[in-house]
Amino acid sequence: MKVGGSPYRTIWLAEDGWSVEVIDQTRLPHVFAVAPWRTMQDAAEGIHTMIVRGAPLIGVAGAYGLALALKSDASNAALAHAHETLLATRPTAVNLAWALTAVRTEVQRLAVPLRGEAAYRLAAQLADADVECCRSIGAHGARLIADAYEATGKSRPVNVLTHCNAGWLATVDWGTALAPVYVAHDAGIPVHVWVDETRPRNQGASLTAWELLQHGVPHTVIADNVGGHLMQHGQVDLCLVGSDRTTATGDVCNKIGTYLKALAAYDNGVPFYACVPSSTIDWTLSDGLRDIPIEQRDTREVSEISGMTVDGQVATVRLTPQGSPVANYAFDVTPARLMTGIVTERGVATASRAGLTALFPEMAAR
Ligand code: MRU
Repeated sequence: MKVGGSPYRTIWLAEDGWSVEVIDQTRLPHVFAVAPWRTMQDAAEGIHTMIVRGAPLIGVAGAYGLALALKSDASNAALAHAHETLLATRPTAVNLAWALTAVRTEVQRLAVPLRGEAAYRLAAQLADADVECCRSIGAHGARLIADAYEATGKSRPVNVLTHCNAGWLATVDWGTALAPVYVAHDAGIPVHVWVDETRPRNQGASLTAWELLQHGVPHTVIADNVGGHLMQHGQVDLCLVGSDRTTATGDVCNKIGTYLKALAAYDNGVPFYACVPSSTIDWTLSDGLRDIPIEQRDTREVSEISGMTVDGQVATVRLTPQGSPVANYAFDVTPARLMTGIVTERGVATASRAGLTALFPEMAAR
């Protein structure tokens, strides 16, 4: 996608051919900055502190982290240490484990001197595959938006509600939940996005709004609790969200608050879809509530808030009384029964084992 007219991905190899550069998402929307990674530790810290975030992107970032590690030491011990360090950065999104395992399995088979180059090649392949996957999710999901437009009698823009940031910033390019929006918008279908601010880190207000603005997609940022009200008044045609881990049975784990939106959508008959690359499906799990580890993050993400002051300084201020205990759960699970469907790179599945298996028989069988 474009930033100020120039095409960008969220992660790329620097001009020196070995260090990695990423868009620093902790500084958006106020500052567009690129962060360099020269070591595996840079990558691990970048994932943990959410310089990069979003399930597909942290998978690719993890793969580049392994490549950086192997550049300086490609021994089995270094490989195991890098894998363990990177995996520990964020527990919920399965893409990280998936990408690390994919790269490790391949390079482990090779002689030590060949491993570094192979890891870079594999990371680049994963990045390109992610772009293609998201492009396909966009094409399949855009049909849902086109159908919703037909249902209005082409009388008004389609209102999509989204939660968190599942746009191109959360992937290498295009996004998952926002890919259908971009495809529909580019095809001339009028679409407007309700953007949940997504406390506590405000990925909606800071990142989703920023990227929609860059692309010229009409949108409105709303407080997290507004969605149910809008749905009750017919102002949401469909909800599109991402996922950090989806079980083989179609339970969807996504940013905290997704579940409440799904409940409101269910109660109001509003279609609710998760847009999910197959790398986000954990075929080993059948019960999302029981089995998916929910990340708990630094409580200062809840007790403090950052923003730009009127004189243009980025500042952090305290929200809660000193001494009030704070909890910071980062994700929740929406049971399959509340989902209308799951948009994947191979089409739209029902949120069920049968639905996902029909689209990905070879993965389900493994
Ligand atoms: O904590 P984050 O910002 O990494 O959480 C991101 C989300 O919850 C996204 O919706 C999810 O990763 C899907 S991204 C395409």
